[in-house]
Amino acid sequence: MSHKVYNWQLKSDMIYKYEESRPKKQIAWVFDTNKCIACQTCTMACKTTWTCGKGEEYMFWNNVESRPYGFYPLGWDVKLLEKLGKQEWDGDKYVGRTIFGSGEEGEELAGITPEDRDWAHPNIGEDEVTAQIEDGAYFGLPHMSWMFYLARICNHCTYPGCLAACPRKAIYKRKEDGIVLIDQERCRGYRKCVKGCPYKKAMFNLMTGRSEKCIACYPALEKGIKTRCVENCIGKIRIVSWLSTPDKAREDAPLDYLVHIKKVALPLYPQFGTEPNVYYIPPIHVDAKYLKQMFGPGVEDAIKTYRGNDETLVGLIKLFGSTDRIIETFKVENGNAIGFSNGEEIVRVPVKEPVIIREFHDEKLDVYRHSVT
Ligand code: SF4
Ligand code: SF4
Ligand code: SF4
Ligand code: F3S
Repeated sequence: MSHKVYNWQLKSDMIYKYEESRPKKQIAWVFDTNKCIACQTCTMACKTTWTCGKGEEYMFWNNVESRPYGFYPLGWDVKLLEKLGKQEWDGDKYVGRTIFGSGEEGEELAGITPEDRDWAHPNIGEDEVTAQIEDGAYFGLPHMSWMFYLARICNHCTYPGCLAACPRKAIYKRKEDGIVLIDQERCRGYRKCVKGCPYKKAMFNLMTGRSEKCIACYPALEKGIKTRCVENCIGKIRIVSWLSTPDKAREDAPLDYLVHIKKVALPLYPQFGTEPNVYYIPPIHVDAKYLKQMFGPGVEDAIKTYRGNDETLVGLIKLFGSTDRIIETFKVENGNAIGFSNGEEIVRVPVKEPVIIREFHDEKLDVYRHSVT
């Protein structure tokens, strides 16, 4: 049996297996794609913490792929996009099909099951750019060359495909924080979740005969500490905090500000219909048509806002990666961006880094300061 639920990312109702039931609070992430350098520190921070056991060798709950040609697993999105058919928006309302109600006969939702070898090359196509016919070394697409890095974790979706697909009801979404988990006691290895997750973030462990997925580092989150992949991000591209629904958005909540107020961070493939809770600031140099398919119709406005010089937005982005604690509220004043937890100040950074020019010759110490390589 299916239910009619509201998906605010699509601005429309859709079909889902269970009734609409939102958690008390929803954990969510924003990744700024413009700052990612594909160092894979996030990938290894997660791997060494959670998936270094038997049967987990191939698993990367966090992965970073080069777009447009990198995938983990191979072709994960293009295969599903093709299956879904034309995805149409009417302004900012989605009028095409989602994965729900689009499954093959007898199936709850549309999905694809990757072959074993599709998981084997986590970033095939790394650093390959699109081609430019006139000046480039490649023959290919008739637009400027570009590529970018797309960091991906489980989206802890509001309407998880994995959860809807599991016939054992072994997957649940926590009421207190919206984290989606697989109950290892209940799971019997049916692998419908692997097929049903459109982002391919449920993974099967051959050694235990059960599926596993990103657990949002819940032991840390419960203590107000960031997830491992966020805390270790070298490029400081990530922030994790709470996200309200658009009607309850708060100006002083960092994720509400980025997602609902400035609308600078957008969901990945919202047309799948799962209402994912990882949001992306789109790369400013990439072909708009490609980005619209990936992040929805808000892309051009998001890039325009990001390119603007809004001091609050710049200050908030400066707070990314500035503390290991979860910033619940923030403000920008007198040239400083300040983060709070439970109303208490936990971090303060300057919006603009001070520039200090030192004398070439320090008379007091009688030393010369110059770069020596
Ligand atoms: Fe489930 Fe996939 Fe959504 Fe994660 S991203 S909650 S695994 S459907
Ligand atoms: Fe891994 Fe935690 Fe990041 Fe999930 S939130 S990808 S478990 S480090
Ligand atoms: Fe990108 Fe940060 Fe991961 Fe490095 S650690 S690959 S900068 S998301
Ligand atoms: Fe269900 Fe996936 Fe386990 S479908 S039984 S959670 S393998």
